[in-house]
Amino acid sequence: MSSTSIVSSPPKLVVANWKMHGSLLRNQQLIEAYLQGLRSITRAEVVVCVPYPYLAQMTDLLSGTSVAWGAQNVAKYEEGAYTGEVGAQMLKDFGATHVIIGHSERSTAYCESDENIAEKFMMAKRYGLTPILCVGETLLEREAGVMERVVGKQLETIIRLFGGEAFANTIVSYEPIWAIGTGLAASSEQAVAMHEFIRHTVATADKTAAGTVKILYGGSVNPQNAVQLLNQKEIDGALVGRCSLDAEQFIKICQAVPENSVI
Ligand code: 13P
Repeated sequence: MSSTSIVSSPPKLVVANWKMHGSLLRNQQLIEAYLQGLRSITRAEVVVCVPYPYLAQMTDLLSGTSVAWGAQNVAKYEEGAYTGEVGAQMLKDFGATHVIIGHSERSTAYCESDENIAEKFMMAKRYGLTPILCVGETLLEREAGVMERVVGKQLETIIRLFGGEAFANTIVSYEPIWAIGTGLAASSEQAVAMHEFIRHTVATADKTAAGTVKILYGGSVNPQNAVQLLNQKEIDGALVGRCSLDAEQFIKICQAVPENSVI
């Protein structure tokens, strides 16, 4: 006979990806509204990933608060003659704790290979930054039924180059490319299936690491679909683009993190 019980769920991570949006004034207003709205929320841990020039502003606005901040990319090199690149130590200098790696808007536009992304992932780790590795398939790949092969290859590149233990205490964000900025989020069934596949792939390489990696969902997350998505135990949080630019919507997404889960 099976029985169900209610347990308090662990907090979930909600990451804002501002992409190339913002100004000093708008950022200040947005962060003030975030902090105000987050006062009553204890279930969500929040990280804001901002364009590089605004990292200094985040140290001013967010130091001493519960909100952490980070960047949206990092160089695979430590330093040197790499015009336009920004190194991991530079992010650390401005208090960043997290960095998004391999977002499809970058990997497509700048032809980043999985190897390049793997090197950035390790560079972030070497400097004590938590990488948020984005993985996901195109619509064509989903329709062809090869989404697990595509996501598997993205993970396997890191495993092949650096071992499964590289995933310990990191973050993977499942971001189906067809769901980003389209208003069409993955269903919770689609997301859960891929999250299980991601954890299983990491576990096959390193069981301990698989127990500590957080797996987020990203792609058209809004206050409505967040309720369903964040209620899944396989989904450790959300990576939010458009709705993170509106404090009211972002706070509602944070509020969607459940207090309790039924097991
Ligand atoms: P949207 O929430 O705007 O779809 O963006 C998702 C995303 O790319 C987060 O990194």
